[in-house]
Amino acid sequence: MYSPTTDRIHIQEVGMRDGLQSAGKFVETEDKVRLLNDLSKTGLSKIEVTSFVSPKAVPLLADAEAVLSAIDRRPGVAYSALIPNTRGLDRALSVELDEVNVVMSVSEAHNMANLRMTCEDSIAQFHQICANRGTLKVNGTLATAFGCPFTGHVSESMVLDWAKRYMDTGIDSLTLADTVGTATPNQVFDLCGAAIGEFPGVEITLHLHNTRGLGIANALAGVAAGIRRLDASVGGIGGCPYAPGATGNICTEDLVHALIFDGYKCAVDLDRLIAISHDLEAILSDSLPGLVRQAGSKVTTHPMSDDLKCRLGLVT
Ligand code: COA
Ligand code: ZN
Repeated sequence: MYSPTTDRIHIQEVGMRDGLQSAGKFVETEDKVRLLNDLSKTGLSKIEVTSFVSPKAVPLLADAEAVLSAIDRRPGVAYSALIPNTRGLDRALSVELDEVNVVMSVSEAHNMANLRMTCEDSIAQFHQICANRGTLKVNGTLATAFGCPFTGHVSESMVLDWAKRYMDTGIDSLTLADTVGTATPNQVFDLCGAAIGEFPGVEITLHLHNTRGLGIANALAGVAAGIRRLDASVGGIGGCPYAPGATGNICTEDLVHALIFDGYKCAVDLDRLIAISHDLEAILSDSLPGLVRQAGSKVTTHPMSDDLKCRLGLVT
């Protein structure tokens, strides 16, 4: 049961990784650094800064080390980077970082498409990563936990079985990811509730994409099931380059807006987020999917035009 006095919903920004990895163009390192420094000041709990993957697979994040060596760290914000393998860990250990986010898919077909390895190979890498992590925390993301773009339905028992194997590698926390936005609110409620019941005391993050317009509804269903950590992406950018049809993450400012006005505490500055979203839109020279940036918040009002006032007889 959520309590506004004791509970906080932690918002974790993934736009600079999940979003920019498939943006329409390379965002210059200095622009990434400015966006990240601004995001650090908004009250976010965690920021996934970049990924240490093959630059051939994801050229738009080839400047990972340069970005991480240039950003300002803010106390209270955890800085994370995605890694797919032990080579990624070596690179992560060469920079200042709090956490690595390892990733594998529940679906064998998507793991092959995304990471060119079997799920068993991924698990073997994660044992090595956890053994050699030093002081880094390790979060484990289970991609395609709600459905696969190649094989379709993914069963709850399959997700929980892989989650157990994942936990056994020594990861500290778990993310359930709806990589291609096929989840529905009841499905989210059920799977999140089952995972929380199966792994008591483990921090579980919900990572959602808004591909079919259910992103915010799914986030609220997750919170109702007991989820207290949500990934989101400023402006709603995002999409896995190796998942056909995948579009943006749930939009950070839309999520924060929904949580605040639905009575949840998340301690994130909505106005600052909206300003960053405008900045990102200008950098990408493309309109972004987020809605609150365009519409303003629920309490935004607009002055009546003089013409309308005249027609209504409100002025003489
Ligand atoms: N960082 C940088 N380079 C890496 C790397 C890493 N973490 N892992 C592998 N490489 C390099 C190798 O050194 C090799 O380079 P070379 O061709 O110059 O010799 C090349 O990538 C291929 O290495 P290999 O081990 O054969 O990998 P692969 O071709 O089987 O690809 C991955 C496997 C995991 C490296 C690649 O599929 C990948 O990076 N995927 C990430 C996809 C992604 O980010 N998806 C979205 C997030 S979920
Ligand atoms: Zn994603």
